[in-house]
Amino acid sequence: MLPRKKIPPGVPFLARRLVVDLIPAAIILVASRLFDFIFHFKLPVVTVTAGVVLSVPTLYALHIKLYQWHVRRAAAHLGAVLPPRWKGRSIGDRDLLDHVLEHYNNGYLGEGIWDKMGELGYLYDVTIMWGTNYVTTDANVIKTILAMEFAEFEKGEEFRDAMGTVLGSGVFNADGDMWKFHRMMTRPYFYRDRISHFELFDRHAALLIKKMKDRFQGGHAVDFQDAIARFTLDSATEFLCGKCVDSLESDLPYAHNDAVAPNLVRKPNVAERFARAFTEAQLIIAMRSQLGWFWHFQELLRDKTAEPMQVVDQFLTPILEEAIRRNRASRVKGMASHVKDADEDETLLDHLVKLTNNSNVLHDEMLNILIASRDTTAATLTFAVYLMCLYPDVFKRLRAEVLERVGPTQVPTFDDVRSMKYLRAVINETLRLYPAVPFNVRVPNRDTTLPNPDPNGPRIFVPAQTPIGYSVFLMHRRKDYWGPDAEKFDPDRWLDERLNKYFTANPFIFVPFNAGPRICLGQQFAYNEMSFFLIRLLQNFSAMELDLSAQPLDARPPPEWASADGQKGKEKVIPKSHLTLYVYGGLWVKMTEAEKET
Ligand code: HEM
Repeated sequence: MLPRKKIPPGVPFLARRLVVDLIPAAIILVASRLFDFIFHFKLPVVTVTAGVVLSVPTLYALHIKLYQWHVRRAAAHLGAVLPPRWKGRSIGDRDLLDHVLEHYNNGYLGEGIWDKMGELGYLYDVTIMWGTNYVTTDANVIKTILAMEFAEFEKGEEFRDAMGTVLGSGVFNADGDMWKFHRMMTRPYFYRDRISHFELFDRHAALLIKKMKDRFQGGHAVDFQDAIARFTLDSATEFLCGKCVDSLESDLPYAHNDAVAPNLVRKPNVAERFARAFTEAQLIIAMRSQLGWFWHFQELLRDKTAEPMQVVDQFLTPILEEAIRRNRASRVKGMASHVKDADEDETLLDHLVKLTNNSNVLHDEMLNILIASRDTTAATLTFAVYLMCLYPDVFKRLRAEVLERVGPTQVPTFDDVRSMKYLRAVINETLRLYPAVPFNVRVPNRDTTLPNPDPNGPRIFVPAQTPIGYSVFLMHRRKDYWGPDAEKFDPDRWLDERLNKYFTANPFIFVPFNAGPRICLGQQFAYNEMSFFLIRLLQNFSAMELDLSAQPLDARPPPEWASADGQKGKEKVIPKSHLTLYVYGGLWVKMTEAEKET
């Protein structure tokens, strides 16, 4: 492994900025010297100083004017118009940043953006501190970005810069040839359903369910979000690397109000340290992307991800080195498979080391897929359990399907999973209302146009390098796409006439796994893992409920939410998002064991 960069990421950013910003000042200084040399006339110090000081704002003002002029001309040239703009009240529209951050920290998910859609339409410009961003929830625009004009829209340099210290050059963070290379390496592994995956899901599910039962028997609540994140972490590390981090081996946490909790001061073990560090690194990069280029100033002295990433790498590096050693040894013995397809029971790492022994490529690839697979799947299962607690009828109906198709104790098979229509409907409905990746961004690599959300309007111009934030979360709740009951949790919409009326007629209104060439590689794996776990859970428990008293005090929805329309008014927890969706403060539940049914 190459050592991680020691220079804080704010330093090169500032150095680049200073070089650009100081050019006019340097020109003024050199010009004043030349003036003196050629014409023997010394410009007054006050004049030169004023010129130097004013050069930076003048340069910026000129740059902005020139940019606006270019944008108007280029838009006219392409026969397009500019989108409506959300105008702020302060210099640089700084108040809009405050508004967005205030909602991000204290409001309901997506409100900061959604607020303005009624007034400005489903694609608008929010320029903050002279940096232009577009935001959209329009299915046609999202389809254009992700699929129709895929080659023109990238993750972009700004995203890569903010994510780089964690994601490196992995598949999530790459564009162009680098992305194609990663995708080409990884895709064959995901082609097939593997029996070995079901075996490992079963082992980890059994352990988790036993731990949950122990807690419920003692009358304690369980934070299902924490518990399921351990299940997905253990499953992912085992199927990816062949070595499980064993986070389920350590104790589950107790609720703040549990009599046991105050007496419990434990040192976190390796698995917990890994899981925490892994989450912390993701929180940091998520905050960077919220702050735009501003984040560099917060990291002038230190890279905030360095410490957590050290913990993550302590786990990952020996596993990678061991895999490379194993592969080399088997090559020497002439045993290595040079077949590019993945073998039935090999891990993703086994598959990748046959294609490259570059430890940095392997490191980034494994870490990216670990991030891609763990939190997304855990989030979806967390919200599925949350919704089943809110809607006991859905729980009952799903449990009846489980008992009818699989039975009370049998291990589910691929055929079981495929045949369970209501289970698929519950998962899809969860992904619709609570998509694990609720917000995302793409950047055009050249000046281009997008469809106008108003079908009669002209196309909308987008300057090169303008980040286009799109919200799947908000799009999945639009009444014009899903009908008047769009905000209602109703799995039947995937089974009755509404399926054809809405989704089949316009499939891009539902893209929890993204779409187009960059569609999620692990979609089938995720459906298998989530289905398997839910079947096991419902075989073992006959009822589930939220334990709201266990919810930390600051993690309860503010009382004023109760009078809001739609899902916001029904929330018993606070959904939040870093890169992925999560429940703030955890999802505290109690369940009744199936055997204990009266
Ligand atoms: C419910 C579970 C999951 C959801 C909702 C989900 C969603 C997504 C989304 C929205 C993206 C696109 C991100 C972007 O381009 O910005 C993505 C990409 C990806 N996902 Fe998933 N994912 C899930 C599970 C998994 C699992 C289990 C794996 C692997 C085992 C996985 C592997 C990947 C990979 C490798 C990519 C990158 C694809 C690329 O950029 O070409 N995902 N996923």
